[in-house]
Formats: sequence, structure tokens, C-alpha cells
Amino acid sequence: MSLTRVTVTAVRNLHPVTLSPSPRINILHGDNGSGKTSVLEAIHLLGLARSFRSARLLPVIQYEQVACTVFGQVLLADGRLSSLGISRERQGDFQIRIDGQNARSAAQLAETLPLQLINPDSFRLLEGAPKIRRQFLDWGVFHVEPRFLPAWQRLQKALRQRNSWLRHGTLDAASQAAWDRELCLASDEIDGYRRTYIQALKPVFERILSELVDLNGLTLSYNRGWDKDRQLDEVLRASLSRDQQIGHTQAGPQRADLRLRSGVHNATDILSRGQQKLVVCALRIAQGHLVSQAKRGQCIYLVDDLPSELDEQHRRALCCLLEELHCQVFITCVDHELLREGWRTDTPVAMFHVEHGCVTQTHDHRE
Ligand SMILES: Nc1ncnc2c1ncn2[C@@H]1O[C@H](COP(=O)(O)OP(=O)(O)O)[C@@H](O)[C@H]1O
Ligand SMILES: [Mg+2]
Repeated sequence: MSLTRVTVTAVRNLHPVTLSPSPRINILHGDNGSGKTSVLEAIHLLGLARSFRSARLLPVIQYEQVACTVFGQVLLADGRLSSLGISRERQGDFQIRIDGQNARSAAQLAETLPLQLINPDSFRLLEGAPKIRRQFLDWGVFHVEPRFLPAWQRLQKALRQRNSWLRHGTLDAASQAAWDRELCLASDEIDGYRRTYIQALKPVFERILSELVDLNGLTLSYNRGWDKDRQLDEVLRASLSRDQQIGHTQAGPQRADLRLRSGVHNATDILSRGQQKLVVCALRIAQGHLVSQAKRGQCIYLVDDLPSELDEQHRRALCCLLEELHCQVFITCVDHELLREGWRTDTPVAMFHVEHGCVTQTHDHRE
């Protein structure tokens, strides 16, 4: 997939603008505070119906405007064009349009526009809470396995039931046993999808990592969220009184995690910040490869402030890997000289200058 057109209105400080991005490399350059990250934020909004900078969308809407809107035209893997639109009003009204129809959920946007974000926050993948790694894992599973989302929704429902029952005890035993069965079925299904995904991700991740940095012996492993040798129903029975005490279910796929280890050590305990960033980049690029294989269409990479995150050598290595993926990339930087050169001559590169919220295309990829 690639965005062939993006129209942004009233997002942060950006003046209304329509961009015609290159299907491959797009570089947004400009001074600090000019609006580069806001362009990425607008694209992110289109793909996920939320920002990566603020939990709520209100701060994204331009001061004194009633709503922000982003439209995009997406070239799908099968050659068709799809149009996406999202708008958010100050009062809180949300509208998602896909091909002229109102869409109900953000999952439909995500399905059409798989986005990968590489920014300073995404480097928290290794050291942050397990939830961040679960989201990373599930993003990949969601994009390669269509049965994942319904299973995940079933799990959430069964889990809500169980947690409510643990706290208030209002359901009779037979009904609760039925919910527990549903919980275990959905959990096993999710665990299966995640396991299959990690098996496919591992070798791709290892190959990409080795092209970025020499960290031999780093292993990625998956922890499913409950004892690997016991069935979930058995684990739930054994921990029932403890679950009742704390008022929620402790074991299950809602506790799954990914581990990165080097020998007996946690990667975060021994790797430098820079090395951790490269590991995260390798994980995110590996996910892009799996999405390409599954959908025959690539995901779109949003890379914020690349030069300030990586040194020259690793920046180049990362750019090569992104170029190899044949996907659409939006990269922001202050000094565009750092990223202008080094691309293959047949790679279409478009450059955009961002200044006080005005985005102008300075180099067309078709030239
Ligand atoms: N809701 C808003 N309305 C108008 N301007 C905003 C809003 N939110 C943030 N800004 C301003 O928009 C500018 C854009 O910043 P940003 O996109 O982070 O720039 P860059 O990534 O180029 O450094 C900042 O100067 C910020 O003060
Ligand atoms: Mg920025």
C-alpha cells in the first residue's frame, strides 16, 4: 500500500495542504517546531484514528478550529485505489469514511493502511511495560491473520465477564463455567496465532538485525501469559482465590510478553541505548516484511527525526533496509543534506520543506 495523496486540514500548526507523496521515499525537512512531526501525526491519524503524541485528539485540532480532517488516497496491493477520511470535531464527534461509506471502527482503517512508527517513543519497546510489546506483537498478528481480531474480541468479552464476576460474584456457577470455557478457547486460539507469528518473525528479525549491528546471541522469545506446561483452565482453577482477592484474572494471553535475551541477561540490562534502538528498528522492519508477505502490499513507515536518533553509519544501514522493503517511507529531519544522498538512483525520492506550518514539495519524485 502507498498513499498517493494526502490532504490535511487544521492539524496542529499545519496550513491546509495536499501532498502527492512518492510511493517510496519521502523526506520532510525543516526547523524545529515547523510542523514535520505534525505531518506524520496526520498520516497516523488516518491509519489509526489516534495520535502518537497525545492520548486525546483534542490537542491535535488547530487552535480556534472546530475540527481537523485528513483525507488520503491509498493505492492497494491489488492496484485499486481506496479513499480514507477521518475527521474529529472539538465537541468529540468522530467520523471515519472509507470509500465514501461511514466506517464503524478504527480497525478498518488499520487494515487498509498498516503503519509502522519509528520515533523516540517507539524505542521504549524493549524497556517499557509488557503492554507495549503485546501491542507490537498483536499489530503484526492482526495484519497477517484475519481470524485474530474476532478471537481477541471474544477474549476481551470473556475476560470482562470473569473479572466482574471475581469482583461482584453475581453470576451463577454454571454460567460462569461457560464463560470460562469461552475464555480458554479464545485464549488458546490467540496463543496459537501469536506463536505462529513469532516463529515467522524470528528468522527475519535475526537476519535484519545482523545487517544493522553485530549482536550475536540475542534471542527473541515469547511468553504466552500462563504456565507453558499447563492448560489455562487448570491455571485459572488453581489461582481462583488469589484472583478473587485482587479482583482480576492474573493468567492468560492478556499477560503475554516478548523477551529479548542475550545469554542469561535481559537485553535491556546489557545493551547500550543505541544498540537497543537498532534492535527496535530491526523488529519493526521485520514486521514490515511479514506484512508484505501476507498481504502482498507493504506497510508504510513513519520515521520521526531519524538523524538525531542514529549515527551516520546506522542511519545509512537503516535507510538501506527500508529501501529494500520497497515500501513507502516518510522520514523527518532538520538537515535534509543528511538524507538527500545515498538512495539508489531508481528509488523515487520526494522532498518536502516544512516552514511555519507550510509544507512545500521541493523535489518531485517524478522529476
Ligand atoms: N493544536 C495546535 N494548533 C496550532 N499549533 C499547534 C497545536 N499544537 C501544537 N502546535 C504547534 O505546532 C508546531 C508543530 O510542531 P511539530 O510538528 O512538533 O514540529 P517539528 O516536528 O517540525 O519540530 C509547534 O510549534 C507547536 O507549538
Ligand atoms: Mg518533530
